[in-house]
Amino acid sequence: MRSIINILDLSVEEIDELISVANDIIVHPGNYSERCRGKKLATLFFEPSTRTRLSFEAAMYELGGNVIGFSEAQSSSAAKGESVADTVRTISCYADIIAMRHPKEGAPLVASLNATVPVINAGDGGHFHPTQTLADLLTIQREKGSFENLTVGFCGDLKFGRTVHSLIGALSRYKGLKVILISPVELKLPSYVKSEILAPAGIEYVQTTNLEEVMPELDILYMTRVQRERFFNEEDYLRLKDSYILTPAKLKNAKEDLAIMHPLPRVNEISVEIDKDPRACYFKQVLNGKYIRMALILKLLQEAGTI
Ligand code: NCD
Repeated sequence: MRSIINILDLSVEEIDELISVANDIIVHPGNYSERCRGKKLATLFFEPSTRTRLSFEAAMYELGGNVIGFSEAQSSSAAKGESVADTVRTISCYADIIAMRHPKEGAPLVASLNATVPVINAGDGGHFHPTQTLADLLTIQREKGSFENLTVGFCGDLKFGRTVHSLIGALSRYKGLKVILISPVELKLPSYVKSEILAPAGIEYVQTTNLEEVMPELDILYMTRVQRERFFNEEDYLRLKDSYILTPAKLKNAKEDLAIMHPLPRVNEISVEIDKDPRACYFKQVLNGKYIRMALILKLLQEAGTI
C-alpha cells in the first residue's frame, strides 16, 4: 500500500505529474468533481491545524468524496491511551485514505505500517511536511516556471520547521540550487538535513544570521514561524520569536521578481504591509495546497485500486 511520509517517497517525475494534474484541476475543476464519489478521507489530527486539515477536507469534497475525522487528540481514543497502530487499524475499516498530523516524529510512518489504506503525513513533529512541500512546489512552478538555478533563502526556525526540511529535500533534486540558511544560531538547520540531503546532492549552502545582507541574491525567500510548541522553555521562545520580521524596508535591495513564501500561520515574521506587494505568494500557497492535495488523493486512490 503506497503511503506518502517523506517528500522523497515521490520521484521527480511523479511530482511533475502531480503538478500537471493540479494545474489541470485549476482550469477544469468540473472534470474532477465526481472522481471520488462514495469514497472517504479520514483526517486524524493530533495537533492544531487550519490550512492543512481544511485543505485536505476541501480537496476531498471537491473530488466528490466525503470526510470523517478528528481535529484534536483529546477528542479521540488517544486520550484513553490507544496506540497510533490500533487507531489506524480501526480507521482503515471506515476510510479509503488517511491524512495524519502528529506531534511525534515518525508517527505517520508507524501508521502507514499498520493501516490497510494509504496514509499521508500531514506533518510529524519537527520532522517533515510533504504536502506543504507539494503546495510550495506548485507555487514555485507557477511563479518561476522551473525549479532549476534557484537561489532560495530559508529564514527563521530552521531547526524545528518541518516545512523547511521537506522543501529542501524536494529542491535538492534539481540543478543549480543554492541554499541560504538564515537563522539565529540556536535555530540552525539540523545536521541530519545537511548530511542526509544537502551533502549527498552536492548542494552549495551558506549559513548566516543576517537576512538583509543576502537579500539581493534571493529568487525565493521562504519565511517561517518560530515553532513555540517545540521549545523546551518559554524564555528561549520569547528571546528568539522576533528574530526576523520582514518589512518593506528590508526588501529595499531584493530582486524585482523575488517570491516571498511562508507556509503560514504567520505570527510576526512578515509585516502585513507586505501583503499588497505583488511578490507576496503566501496566500497563493494556501490555494495551491488544496489543488495539489486533490491531485495527491487521486493518485493514491488510483494506485490503491480504490477508484
Ligand atoms: C506549518 C506546519 O504545520 O508545519 N503550517 C502548515 O501546515 N501550513 C508551519 C507552521 O506551523 O509554522
